[in-house]
Amino acid sequence: KRKGHVSVVVVGGTGDLARKYLWQGFFQLYANHVSKGHTFSFYAGGLSPAEKGRPVLFDILKGLTCPVELTAERCALVKEQFLRLAQYRQLKSAEDYQGLAQHIATQLKQEGMAEAGRLFYLSVPAFAYADIADRVNSTARPPAGAWLRVVLEKPFGHDLASAQLLTTQLSGSLREEEMYRIDHYLGKQVVSQILPFRKENRKFLDPVWNKHHIARIEIVLKETLDAKGRLQFYDQYGVIRDVLQNHLTEVMTLLTMDIPANLTDGKEVLQKKLQIFGALPQLDRSCAVVGQYQSYNAEVQQELNKTKDHYSFTPTFAGVVIYIDTARYDGIPIILSSGKMLDERVGYARVLFKNNVFCVQDHSSVECNPKEIVFYFGHGHLRYPAVLVSKNLFKPSLLKDGWKEVTESGDVSLFGRPLTDFHVQTPAVQREAYAELIAHVFRGRKDRFISSENLLASWSFWSPLLDSLAQTFPRPYPGGPANGNLLNFQFQGHEATFSSEAV
Ligand code: BG6
Repeated sequence: KRKGHVSVVVVGGTGDLARKYLWQGFFQLYANHVSKGHTFSFYAGGLSPAEKGRPVLFDILKGLTCPVELTAERCALVKEQFLRLAQYRQLKSAEDYQGLAQHIATQLKQEGMAEAGRLFYLSVPAFAYADIADRVNSTARPPAGAWLRVVLEKPFGHDLASAQLLTTQLSGSLREEEMYRIDHYLGKQVVSQILPFRKENRKFLDPVWNKHHIARIEIVLKETLDAKGRLQFYDQYGVIRDVLQNHLTEVMTLLTMDIPANLTDGKEVLQKKLQIFGALPQLDRSCAVVGQYQSYNAEVQQELNKTKDHYSFTPTFAGVVIYIDTARYDGIPIILSSGKMLDERVGYARVLFKNNVFCVQDHSSVECNPKEIVFYFGHGHLRYPAVLVSKNLFKPSLLKDGWKEVTESGDVSLFGRPLTDFHVQTPAVQREAYAELIAHVFRGRKDRFISSENLLASWSFWSPLLDSLAQTFPRPYPGGPANGNLLNFQFQGHEATFSSEAV
């Protein structure tokens, strides 16, 4: 049975992100849905004329890998169909967008197909959003009855004022329900299990998910790479805008928000996240430590053609301590931290409990070992995404939707403890965040995206700190393996200071 036709337009369709993730995600979407009666066409939009862009696109598409569900034989067939449905189009002027819309309409008419919707993925710098949204609105909207969904990539602004401006510009062309602002962390399998995990294990967690039992929360993304090659962007943003304001903040809200009755109800989920933003105090410099790897400034001078006396204030490392001002969480330090050129590549959120509460109840030999729940995004020691719970804490119920328990632990350890100390669950099949989110756009699931209101709430929270740090010299750190202890903060009231010698 035919379910209507979907046109996918990836603007910036031969760029870096599209090459690395987006086409793979759309291929996965196609493979999953074509058998269910949907029909598709795919367009890569770019600034080059078609004869130049086409070979670049097909070069990307030929390199797509097979979704695991498909046999090699079936995959070859599906891929061939996918390639036949894809084309490159120059999308530069308003006329180009109009031409695309006409093309879609003619094709649908010829083939006698009903239109289900149009998905525009804007994989282009944010300064181009307003113009493209305007063109889509004025020339390329689908007819009544079909949906329009426009996916936008971060950065969504640079501070509160610029985010407000961008939001106002976009809302002149698109309705709120048509905008899908992506934060790829919300597509990571472990991140998307935070709420289901909290809900599923409510019986145990409800009494302890508060200041009386949680000692601290760490939300960490450590990277080993530098910022070379993207300094034009990075030097204007820095680590707080690049990672803390969005990815790590989203994880923080998922960990601390009230659990919605319906986890897939976008309105409810976003509303509950907003309540957390409403309870965040204003941050100032004393809540943050910022660093910069030592070769950064020289890289900036070179890549951005600056003079030898140019100095960049951009932090490449930041640790920020946040206290949520509610009766439930007040006093729990929540540490958000990320940096480039650190000793290892790893991302996780770790909820550490106060031991004494459980030592009394626990009769095992590991009574007073640290008790924690870890949402491990991947890389690092484990190399696979996982949700881990200390065995001396409780036994979690098995996560749904294709998760399995890991028993073979070898001699791997996590935070200095053998893996055998944890209940470990991992996805049976690992999926790319972008493929997950593309599937959610297709289903119209807004709970995984950032609404205008949530975006502005996040910027209202981060902007004062960014302002107060604007003229702060980040402390230099050497970069590389020496930075293992960069994350050792000392807490003095609401103040964070490095204890590391390295900085
Ligand atoms: C991006 C940032 O949003 O996230 C990068 O711009 C960062 O600087 C990346 O490296 C981290 O994502 P992941 O999925 O590799 O942890």
